[in-house]
Amino acid sequence: MLRAGDDRRWSDVTDSMQTYLEAKRTVDDRALNRRVLERFTTALSNRPEPVRIVELGCGVGTMIARFAEWDCLPARVSYRAVDRDVASIQRARELVPARLEAAGYTVAPLESEADETVEGGIPKSTTVGARPDESGGDAATRLEITLEVADGFGLEDDADAVVAAALLDIVALEDAIPGIADLLGDDGLCYAPITYDGGTTFAPRDRLDDRIEAQYHRHMDEVRDEGSSQAGSELLTRLPRQGWGVLAAGGSDWIVRPREGEYPDDEDAVVGRVLETMADALEEVSSPGLEASVREGWFDRRWRELEDGELVYVAHNLDVLARVP
Ligand SMILES: C[S@@+](CC[C@H](N)C(=O)[O-])C[C@H]1O[C@@H](n2cnc3c(N)ncnc32)[C@H](O)[C@@H]1O
Repeated sequence: MLRAGDDRRWSDVTDSMQTYLEAKRTVDDRALNRRVLERFTTALSNRPEPVRIVELGCGVGTMIARFAEWDCLPARVSYRAVDRDVASIQRARELVPARLEAAGYTVAPLESEADETVEGGIPKSTTVGARPDESGGDAATRLEITLEVADGFGLEDDADAVVAAALLDIVALEDAIPGIADLLGDDGLCYAPITYDGGTTFAPRDRLDDRIEAQYHRHMDEVRDEGSSQAGSELLTRLPRQGWGVLAAGGSDWIVRPREGEYPDDEDAVVGRVLETMADALEEVSSPGLEASVREGWFDRRWRELEDGELVYVAHNLDVLARVP
């Protein structure tokens, strides 16, 4: 494992974005705001079937599988899950069928209409059909899932709902909100869980924590191409201004903590990735009064605590459910 001052980086251990996304599944499972999710589930159940859902930035497909496992979906759903990252969609193509089968579904590939490919000859889009085993072959209980490599903001669709989990804090909201509206049909819904909202804290506390957090947020707001450190609460003001109805909103804070010196379910990979992202960000912002050696000392302390199973990490997020104008 990594040690403070080690030349290797945490990303060499977690090795990929996909490993990080898989490790954050259990963190999200705990964090998701059940009241907002229930409102979304109820709203979906009141729409004519098949219900059409488009998920933007689906990563490794965690949310689709979760919806099925947690019984959040109506009987007939057509689910289009899109990510621009080829490796994540490839991983989703392995993980989603496996998790659906473990949850009691029979999964089979459906014919793809087009055989368009992306880099490396990988299919741009693949579709599977899934039926709960208990339906006894009843054709009315089918979940059709398309996993597609694409930019989520260059699509055309006419969906009942758009899902954007842990996405709206890394994109430009002024473009993303109208982009989502264009994908929705009448009374369509946007469910945006785990939207970061300006809070990253660690325990035990360190006297530099607030300054480090402020610089991290400054990087999100001023240096990074797109995104906002306050995206969650910004949604709550921007959406109504643009005519959307906010149906529900609630906190979905991430809390990662060790149990007797060990992190459950590889969740230390999530904290490692966050620390590394923060370290890269702080290298890119000028921080008057915060010398590089002092900053590095703060990170060394955090790496050591993570390695020793002593570090607690909390991030403040919001889940938002809104209806298109
Ligand atoms: C923080 S990850 C969240 C992944 C997944 N929603 C989850 O919660 O596990 C953000 C994802 O959005 C994808 N992404 C970012 N911008 C995108 C865009 N314009 N179109 C499609 N995917 C995008 C990234 O590739 C990444 O997989």
